[in-house]
Amino acid sequence: MISITDITKAFNRGDINEVKALTGVNLQVNDGDFITIIGSNGAGKSTFLNAIAGSFSIDSGRIILNDDDITRWPEYKRAALIGRVFQDPLLGTCAGATIEQNLAMANTRGKRRGLGFGVKSKDRDSFRKKLSVLKLGLEDRLKVHTGLLSGGQRQALTMLMATMVRPRLLLLDEHTAALDPKTGGMILDLTAEIVESQNLTALMVTHNMNQAISMGNRLIMFHRGEIVLDIKGEKKKNLKVEDLLRRFSELRGEEGVSDRMLLC
Ligand SMILES: Nc1ncnc2c1ncn2[C@@H]1O[C@H](COP(=O)(O)OP(=O)(O)O)[C@@H](O)[C@H]1O
Ligand SMILES: [Mg+2]
Repeated sequence: MISITDITKAFNRGDINEVKALTGVNLQVNDGDFITIIGSNGAGKSTFLNAIAGSFSIDSGRIILNDDDITRWPEYKRAALIGRVFQDPLLGTCAGATIEQNLAMANTRGKRRGLGFGVKSKDRDSFRKKLSVLKLGLEDRLKVHTGLLSGGQRQALTMLMATMVRPRLLLLDEHTAALDPKTGGMILDLTAEIVESQNLTALMVTHNMNQAISMGNRLIMFHRGEIVLDIKGEKKKNLKVEDLLRRFSELRGEEGVSDRMLLC
């Protein structure tokens, strides 16, 4: 359903600072795939997600989402089909707006906007229902500005917003990395629940190998702008952290990458 063919992206092209961030990446994603993505710092993971979301134009290659060739679509148009959650909890919600205003905004994704973000009482009921699933008590705080919430609360809200209108694809870029372990665990549980209950197709970057193994049905590893490992199904279920470490260390042997780069 998602077909990514031979995409390349270099930053500062032609300059001495040129970085080849993606060097010919191919990935066929099936409907309902939940793919975890690992790789050392600077391997190209975020660039890959950003290329799909249209944050910049790619140098070559094609991106097909269902039957739409979105390769040349602007980011805002792709945003109608793609939900995103970033590492920084401050990015996903608008601090100056209330919880219900944020949710109302998310509800308009991909739809023609009406006048303003008026919140109707029937919307309010549905917001309360969705928020109560989070078990954070936010359903009783609809008129509170999100700027007053904790990072974990904001990230939970962002997860709801990113999936409020069912996205064709959900992109998660280290979306628990900035949270304490307990809160991060809560967001991960929520992620698994939302992806499963809505049968979403999702790509999740994580630097945590246990998470990468335990979540999703497929795991890919990036290294120097390429996919160097792609493990699915039964093989993924049997995967151990040591297997991934071994692969990392093989790559290190090949290219002299430092330990610090590998493990963060
Ligand atoms: N906007 C940018 N301008 C210049 N270089 C960039 C930009 N974004 C990413 N890079 C570089 O591209 C490479 C891949 O980065 P990134 O995709 O962020 O890696 P990862 O998410 O795997 O840590 C890195 O060398 C990074 O410094
Ligand atoms: Mg990154």
